[in-house]
Amino acid sequence: MITNTELEFKGDLYPSKIVEFKKEVDSVYFYTDNSVILKVTVLRDSLLRFRYTTKGYFSKDFSYAIDKTQSHGYNLLELADDIDCYIIQTSKVICKIQKEDLRVSITDLEGNCILEDELGFHWEESYHFGGNIVKMSKASKDGECFYGLGDKASQMNLKGKRVENFATDQYAYHKDQEPLYKVVPFYIGLQNKNSYGIFFDNTFKTTFDFCHERRNVTSFWAEGGEMNYYFIYGPQMQDVVTTYTHLTGKPELPPLWALGYHQCKWSYYPESKVKEVTGKFRELKIPCDAIYLDIDYMEGFRCFTWNKEYFPDPKKMVAELAEDGFKTVVIIDPGIKIDKDYWVYNEALEKDYFCKRADGPYMKGKVWPGECNFPDYTNPEVREWWAGLFKELISDIGVKGVWNDMNEPAVMEVPGKTFPMDVRHDYDGNPCSHRKAHNIYGTQMARATYEGVKQFAYPKRPFIITRSAYSGAQRYTSSWTGDNVASWEHLWIANIQVQRMSISGMGFTGSDIGGFAEQPTGELYARWIQLGVFHPFCRTHSSGDHGDQEPWSFDEEVIDITRKFVELRYQLLPYLYTMFWEYINDGVPMLKPLVYFDQEDTQTHYRTDEFIFGNQILVCPILEPNAQGRRMYLPTGNWYNYWTDELVNGKKELWVQTDFDQIPIFVKEGAIIPKYPVQQYVGELEFEEITLEVYFKLGKEKSVLYEDAQDGYDYNKGRFSLATFSFTGKEKELIIQQHKEGKFVTNYTKFKINLHGLPFKVKKIMIDKEHISFNDASFNLNTLIVDKDFTEIYITGV
Ligand code: GLC
Repeated sequence: MITNTELEFKGDLYPSKIVEFKKEVDSVYFYTDNSVILKVTVLRDSLLRFRYTTKGYFSKDFSYAIDKTQSHGYNLLELADDIDCYIIQTSKVICKIQKEDLRVSITDLEGNCILEDELGFHWEESYHFGGNIVKMSKASKDGECFYGLGDKASQMNLKGKRVENFATDQYAYHKDQEPLYKVVPFYIGLQNKNSYGIFFDNTFKTTFDFCHERRNVTSFWAEGGEMNYYFIYGPQMQDVVTTYTHLTGKPELPPLWALGYHQCKWSYYPESKVKEVTGKFRELKIPCDAIYLDIDYMEGFRCFTWNKEYFPDPKKMVAELAEDGFKTVVIIDPGIKIDKDYWVYNEALEKDYFCKRADGPYMKGKVWPGECNFPDYTNPEVREWWAGLFKELISDIGVKGVWNDMNEPAVMEVPGKTFPMDVRHDYDGNPCSHRKAHNIYGTQMARATYEGVKQFAYPKRPFIITRSAYSGAQRYTSSWTGDNVASWEHLWIANIQVQRMSISGMGFTGSDIGGFAEQPTGELYARWIQLGVFHPFCRTHSSGDHGDQEPWSFDEEVIDITRKFVELRYQLLPYLYTMFWEYINDGVPMLKPLVYFDQEDTQTHYRTDEFIFGNQILVCPILEPNAQGRRMYLPTGNWYNYWTDELVNGKKELWVQTDFDQIPIFVKEGAIIPKYPVQQYVGELEFEEITLEVYFKLGKEKSVLYEDAQDGYDYNKGRFSLATFSFTGKEKELIIQQHKEGKFVTNYTKFKINLHGLPFKVKKIMIDKEHISFNDASFNLNTLIVDKDFTEIYITGV
């Protein structure tokens, strides 16, 4: 092994030997004789924080990413002093710190190595800016895989890649392009069937190298700030992701309509055009819940104004749209036009809320309105002011959601496409330059927007969507993947990005369906819709400078496919809402890449296309033109082909034949999938019954159904309905038990149960221990109607 003393090249500096240590409640400090301090904190038994300084003292501890409301339990922390190292032990891991050079290694309790420093922490002084370029390198074993990192448009497994985190407006990006809009410096390592995670909470530009430069080394570094990372032990990827999501926070439940289909374009105007589009959705009976107004609704792109020529009476229009079931979402960008006749500009100027250059003048940059100044959202006072600006839009006009764009922040006609690095920010009382604030600017804007919309939408729930985001942004906002392109490659990218965001804590994400730039063919659009309805956020958007991108811009067949798949999404809303509830409660990602689903199966380690939607539906998009089906991998378990009900054994690759109006969809055996009737928008219909699709299994399986008022906050007061279904199947027997919690009473009174794959002919039906005649149960061809409050259905057969 190379020792650190042999490695003094490139101006890199290394910690020297430990001369002192100190234990304090949940932390241990290690001091070296060249002023390095390492602070190890045990946050949970499987969550350790490593914080380094080279100055001999720590600066104030502050993070925008960490959720301050996260709970900490009691953790075991045992400290031992060995010959050549100190040993910290929790009930899950053992962490050794070398006395000689501060290098760290972590093993499980059996002594299996999970992660160990290669060079470990080292740094380079930044003569140009002051402070350090902080670096970390870890030894990587052959066969190790890497996942996570937010919106990267690369293969799911990042092994062999180098990625950069610097929020960037990346119009028409391409595969492997770096950097992109979002910054999630969190990755998951999978080695020897064990998973762990690293969250490098540093907002400066960061780089991660996954065995790209050196085959057995993974490293990450930042151009400033501290080496400050969290180590998360699995060993299941599930645990790594939920712990990360817990650490950086979960959102609240969105209003159910936000999970409906959204239609957008740059731009729908004037009012008559907006109404024409919404009217057409209703006429063609393609469900739709939200319509977006892009920048042209404003007066000269001035935020919080309306172009009165295009929209003479916004309040009336928004109300009329609402009557037809459409929620209006409007765009708000960060750039405030420099215009002395513009009230927002004047207010910010008067209050001194715009970002300033190092030497004093306001930061000036061109965006849509021309020359603009930019609020400093890292100042809490500015955020409060910004939140207040939404009063008219939300309370008076009735807008239901706000779309934050260009918040990387994007600046036009300058080489770096963003602010100069000397720009000053408040950073919540920790003044700094744009080098440090750049990556969180967008999140702080979305946060301020969220606070405003939430306040004025109350007692309804807010809906926010952002383009740029840093870890933790999920607490405030949903997101989309930015300016993609109408190409098959981008359909592949969209699939990867949304799955990746899902395991990076930011699950409420979707892509611009059909592609933002350029014109999709009908076939590409249809294939994109078929994938997009399985993304938590589902919106068609396009730049509008080519052809149209409403479903009816394509031929009848494509319109029919769009309707069919959007209808499927609306039917699956209770399933989707339930997975959202699992996400906000437990941090469970809504979409699960195959490797997340079964990390033990090495076949999953490099798979990218197939994913699990929720817990029990497997989706595999078609990503190529002229396809009659595709080859795909079915993971462990037995799965029903959704279209044919054929039962297929998993853990194998197979060819799945599908028509143009299908993609491979499989349902896990034993699953109970709830479905609502098709509605044109959420809340359109009051229904008497909902459907439970029951997929027979020899054995047991649990399914859940979460419901509430679909908006508002009563669910926090116990007014929700949580049904847990336990399925048990035997050779000639089937039992479904229902356990209910919560005080919410659903409007419907009955379940229509469809039994799939029943291996026997039904002879006897008992509901809640009472024998029911086929007639009373309206039993017909494996369908029966039961009271929604049943506790047990017992069916025997011959
Ligand atoms: C940016 C956004 C895009 C929007 C356009 C005009 O390119 O990414 O979604 O339509 O600006 O506002």
